[in-house]
Amino acid sequence: MASRRALQSFSHRFCWGRRNFGAVPEDSRAASCSQKLISLEYEYSAHNYHPVPIVFSQAKGSSVWDPEGNRYLDFLAAYSAVNQGHCHPKIMKALQEQTERFTLSSRAFYNDRFPIFAELLHSMFGYDMVLPMNTGAEGVETALKLARKWGYEKKQIPKDEAIIVSCCGCFHGRTLAVISMSCDNEATRGFGPLLPGHLKVDFGDTVALEKIFKEYGDRIAGFLFEPIQGEAGVVIPPDGYLKAVRDLCSKYNILMIADEVQSGLARTGKMLACDWEEVRPDVVVSTPSPPLKNSWEFSQLILGKALGGGVIPVSAVLTDKDVMLCVRPGEHGSTFGGNPLASAVAIASLNVIQDEQLAERSAQLGQELRRQLLKIQQQYPKYIKEIRGRGLFNAVELNSKNLFPVSAFDICLKLKERGILAKPTHDAIIRLTPPLTVSLDELQEGSKALQDVLKLDLPNMQKAKPEHVSPTSSNKCDRCGRNL
Ligand SMILES: Cc1ncc(COP(=O)(O)O)c(C=O)c1O
Repeated sequence: MASRRALQSFSHRFCWGRRNFGAVPEDSRAASCSQKLISLEYEYSAHNYHPVPIVFSQAKGSSVWDPEGNRYLDFLAAYSAVNQGHCHPKIMKALQEQTERFTLSSRAFYNDRFPIFAELLHSMFGYDMVLPMNTGAEGVETALKLARKWGYEKKQIPKDEAIIVSCCGCFHGRTLAVISMSCDNEATRGFGPLLPGHLKVDFGDTVALEKIFKEYGDRIAGFLFEPIQGEAGVVIPPDGYLKAVRDLCSKYNILMIADEVQSGLARTGKMLACDWEEVRPDVVVSTPSPPLKNSWEFSQLILGKALGGGVIPVSAVLTDKDVMLCVRPGEHGSTFGGNPLASAVAIASLNVIQDEQLAERSAQLGQELRRQLLKIQQQYPKYIKEIRGRGLFNAVELNSKNLFPVSAFDICLKLKERGILAKPTHDAIIRLTPPLTVSLDELQEGSKALQDVLKLDLPNMQKAKPEHVSPTSSNKCDRCGRNL
């Protein structure tokens, strides 16, 4: 017990009292602060992540400082939850003002922030209604439940036979329903039985999609997809895919469910990634109501992450009345969903995205980043297989065979030593997704660090790594049998 108390007081004594930004700490005890915090977490927290060993102690915009006062540039932006930059002053002000008034009513009562948030979402995205939740995974769960409910009530799918179709390589979160669609063996093995009522289709393949729709269409309630697959490694579908999905969903009377938790809110250079093919209704600014869509064009949009401005978890499912009103009081909800604090923060987060034209910024800066990265690829074609992305949603796909025995994770460790924070997805892909407020100079710093790692660090790393490490053996998806 005594040792636990000692550990609890450790971080206060050795870390929190010692911020010294931009300078090397004088006290040598502080130098081991990060390491000790990492050990504490390892000891007392589940080992369900494999983090890059950097401890965030303070952050502003694109910059992060560790407890020792070292500055880094954040090229992950909390998996796109920090599109507006860390601790944006307008979002922090909204947070502070709301915390001084009140923070939670629960939906057992009304509060004076959520209706304003709901109306703002309606006016920005043109859907009739919103169902607020907290995390992205909850948003997806909610969309799936709504789809099933709509399927039974409106499409007359026989009881308990509703099917959701999702894409190979998808990532929609970690709850049971959601992992039941996952192609990631690590996410599914040991967690069975998975939920029935799912079919898989290759992402980007409209022929396969129509085949499934034709065969099972009467029982399919919804098609859930990411317009750009994020966790799969920023996988962009072929041109025309989103339009074709829209047409097929309309033709077979199937809900088109776009998971824009990661790709939405200006990340890809448009407000929504679906906007790249204008498969969404036009943004409606005027009230009282958006233009009526054809009655068969039902769709759902899921937002999360940056909706909370990197401050508080906020997610939302947006859809029209025909779908939303299939859920009645008591049938779905969340104690914290639509809470006044989250609503106030989300209003500020959306306003910042609009006022600072972050979508346009993301489009322009993304082009510049890819230009810089393509130059590096030209210098190191042996190591970089592909540069791809939209806006500031970018990936560097490495050639793991030629890098061997060095992994993408090793490259990220070296990037960290050079002041850039990025995290690999799968074995060979590094996502570069800085806050959308990043400056041109900061982008340049990121590219330069990657160039330096390949030029200066990689030769030594390849010599230093043990010979007996073998490249990751090919891994097949348990669900669809495809190579991962
Ligand atoms: C497309 C997509 N959907 C859903 C989620 C889950 O969001 P959360 O981690 O907030 O539950 C993620 C998370 O990365 C995501 O990328």
